[in-house]
Parts: sequence; structure tokens; C-alpha cells
Amino acid sequence: MAEDAILGFLESNVNISDSGQFAADVGIDHNEIINVIKSLHGFRLVDAQDIKREKWVLTDEGKSYTVAGSPEVQLFLAIPLEGISREELQKKVDSSVYKIGCAQAIKNKWVEMGKQLVSRKIQNVEDRVKDLLLRIRDGEVIDQEDIDALKRRKLIALQTWKGYSLQRGPNYAPKRKKAVTDLTRDHLQRGDWKDLEFKEYNFSAKGPPAEGGYLHPLLKVRKQVQNIFLQMGFEEMPTNNFVESSFWNFDALFQPQQHPARDSHDTFFLKVPSTTRELPEDYVERVKRVHEYGGYGSRGYGYDWKREEANKNLLRTHTTAVSSRMLYLLAQQKPFTPKKYFSIDRVFRNEAVDRTHLAEFHQIEGLVCDRGLTLGDLIGVLHDFFSRLGMSKLRFKPAYNPYTEPSMEIFSYHEGFKKWVEIGNSGMFRPEMLLPMGLPDDVRVIAWGLSLERPTMILYGIDNIRDLFGHKVDLNLIKRNPIFLRNKFQIRSAEMLCLFRGLSISLPT
Ligand code: PHE
Repeated sequence: MAEDAILGFLESNVNISDSGQFAADVGIDHNEIINVIKSLHGFRLVDAQDIKREKWVLTDEGKSYTVAGSPEVQLFLAIPLEGISREELQKKVDSSVYKIGCAQAIKNKWVEMGKQLVSRKIQNVEDRVKDLLLRIRDGEVIDQEDIDALKRRKLIALQTWKGYSLQRGPNYAPKRKKAVTDLTRDHLQRGDWKDLEFKEYNFSAKGPPAEGGYLHPLLKVRKQVQNIFLQMGFEEMPTNNFVESSFWNFDALFQPQQHPARDSHDTFFLKVPSTTRELPEDYVERVKRVHEYGGYGSRGYGYDWKREEANKNLLRTHTTAVSSRMLYLLAQQKPFTPKKYFSIDRVFRNEAVDRTHLAEFHQIEGLVCDRGLTLGDLIGVLHDFFSRLGMSKLRFKPAYNPYTEPSMEIFSYHEGFKKWVEIGNSGMFRPEMLLPMGLPDDVRVIAWGLSLERPTMILYGIDNIRDLFGHKVDLNLIKRNPIFLRNKFQIRSAEMLCLFRGLSISLPT
């Protein structure tokens, strides 16, 4: 509407000399007119020049006197002809009217403040202040002297008024054509592209930021741990089977079939396919025998071992399932060659999800297989491995795993908390596990495991595992992390020590 009014007016008139006056004439708010002028000016439909005017406007106090009259007149009228005591007069008018009114009325010599009475000195007064204020409100020009007086009383204030004068611009048209952004098939078919105005390209506009790939913190720490193993001469085991049979996950590890971990409350079993297709039969036979009767110096568990139980498919509960497969394969190679193996991959447990537990997480596992290894070798390797992660003060506590004897929980000393924090689990694989595989009598296997989530959470200052893994992960967190991780981690190893030791929460190891 404002646009039509302006462009229409300029069609038959040379210019609009004052946008304020124009707004008043067409009955449109001046601010609206201004906005349209700016836009029309931008597209050169009009040429506009600033005009600035200073104008006196009434303050709130000034405005109130245009209605109630000036305080001096209000006060004057409150004084009866016979006079009035100050107390009585004060009761009759507002306190501000009394204060200002007295001062002004005395100055004007309208009233006399006697000892007893306040009385009028003249019969009638006229309210000049109110009249002046009304004239200013109506935009009339008044004497500088009066202006000064009203300004001093803070009844008026100077306001800068901004407007425009304008005339047709080089692109003037009585109606603005909307610039088109895209040339379409319809434009071509109808032929109206000839008359269309196309929006100009903005070559200095910024394009959307280019998105690259980002590594998840778990992948970065995984890489760091992987590098440590590689530096120590370990080979990575293939871990690309989340689905495993109970046989390799439990039976081969000398874990009895009644063990509570083999319950569906702790382990996810598969419905389809519910059982494994093949197992190495002669080895299965030896595993069955060692569970039932023992052998190799062991008494076994003395129960009725069931093949159906071993056939059940599950989501592997630990990466030690991978280790058992690899050790079996190694045992088939003659002559025996010592090996150092590691793995870092996902495992699954049917757990209640909370701040520190998920139903799936990652395990880091290392093992060394050689003739005549001892517990001292295990402790030595653990010191080497963990000091590369920044943890050199270690302690071990006897523990129990069905597949290791002896077994040790690994603790690291936390300098800040002044306490020992559990960081992993370890042991020497039992002869009941290794000998049925076919490994030579004097071959020993030392092994340890820990979770990947734990050091990652500490490194990245995450205290809820659900912020690290799963659908609630903040992608921005991943994007903000630096890309160059290798150098960063080398620098960070000391820092990691402090952080690692700072953990009070318990994560699955
Ligand atoms: N498999 C064990 C776990 O899940 C870790 C472990 C690995 C313990 C190797 C001893 C030897 O906690």
C-alpha cells in the first residue's frame, strides 16, 4: 500500500519533498513509508535524500500539564479569596503541584506566602505554560525565550526527526516488478522471460561451509591403542564377527555350561540362526572331555556337557572369543611359532543401561603366546603396555576368570584421588583351555583386557556413556574435536595419565 502510494504519486508528480508530510497526507505511518523508501531506493526505483529536522516535543510532565494545567495555576486556583493556611493548602493539592506551584507562583508574584496565610496577590491568572505546551504539541513555532524556559523546566525536549525527500530513480516504474531468481521451463514456454527482471548474482555471498568427515572419539582412542600394540610388535586379530557360537565364546574357554554368564539375562542369544553350522569336531570332543572329566592334570567340572548348549549362537560377550579361535588356529600350525596378538572391537552384554553401562561396548585385548611364559612376564608386559598409555604405577589383585589361572585385576594409582582405580583384568590361560587346542605342553599364554570406553570418556571429559555412544551423541562434539590426533595423543599421554587415574566411575573392563 505504501509502495503503491509512493510510486503512484511520483507518476504524476516530480517529487515528494518531505516523507513526513507525505505520510500525513496519505494517512500511512511514517515508519512504514521510510521502510518502503529504503527498499525502493536500494533497487534505484527512486532516488532519496536524507532530511533531518529538529523538533520540540513534550515530555511526560509537559503532556500532563496540557490536561491538568500548570502547577502554578493549579495552586493559584486552590487558594480561596480569603486566603488559606499552608497546611490546608498542602492538603488540597498534590505534593509536587504544591512544591513546583509555590515556587513558580511566587516568582510570578501571583501569591503571597504570609506567616499565617497564603493569599492571592492578583485576581486572575492565565495559564501561559499550558498554552505554550499546546502550541508546541501542535507544531507551532514559538519564541526562543519561551522554549528556553520550558526546556529548563524539562517540559519539552528536542527530538531529531528523520525523513526523506525523493524523486524518480533510473529504474523507476509505476509498479515494481519482482525480480525472478530462476529461469524455468514455464518462462521459456510462455515467452515471458523476455520481460522478466532477473535477480542479479551476488558473487560475494558466502557459500555453505564444506563438511568433511569427522572421527568419533572412540575411533581416535582406538587408533592410539592400536598404535601402542603395533609399536610393541603385536598383530591385530580379525574381529569381524559379532555373532559367535557359545562354543568359542564360553566352552573353548573352559567356562562351564551352568555358569551364570551363559544365562539369557546376561547374554544375547540369537533366534535366527539360533545355532552354529560347524565346529571342529575332534577339538569339540576334547573340550567336552575336559569339561566332564578333566585331563592334562585337571579334574574337570564333572557334569554332563551338552553339544546343543555349545551350538547356541550369541552376540559375543567378550573379545576373548576371538582369542580362543585364534589360539586354536595357531595350535594347528606346526611347528609352533610364538605370537603376540591384540584386538579392539565391540562386545555385547544384556545389561541394564545407565550412566556407565551400555548393552554394547568395546574391549581392548592383548595376548602373548610363547613357551615358558610366567606371571612375571605378564606383569612386565602390563607395565610396558599401560605406561605407554600414561599409567606407570600399577598394582594387581588376585581375581577369578574361568579361563585364567592365576587371574589378576589391574589397578592404577590415581594421584589426585589418592586411591587405586581398577583399569583392567588379566591372567594366564588355563591348561584346560590350551592343551585341548593342541598347543605344545610348555606353551603359556598371558592375556589382559579392558574397555575402550573408559579411557575415551576420561580423555574427552564425558561422564555419561550415552553422550559418547548411541543416538544421543552430539555430532557437534565430534565435529569440534581436532582432526590431527596422532600428534595430539603423543602430547597428551601425560595428561591421559592424570585423567585416567581421575576416574571414579566403574566401566566394564
Ligand atoms: N575377557 C575378560 C573380560 O571380559 C578380560 C580378560 C581377557 C581377562 C583376557 C583375562 C584375560 O572381562
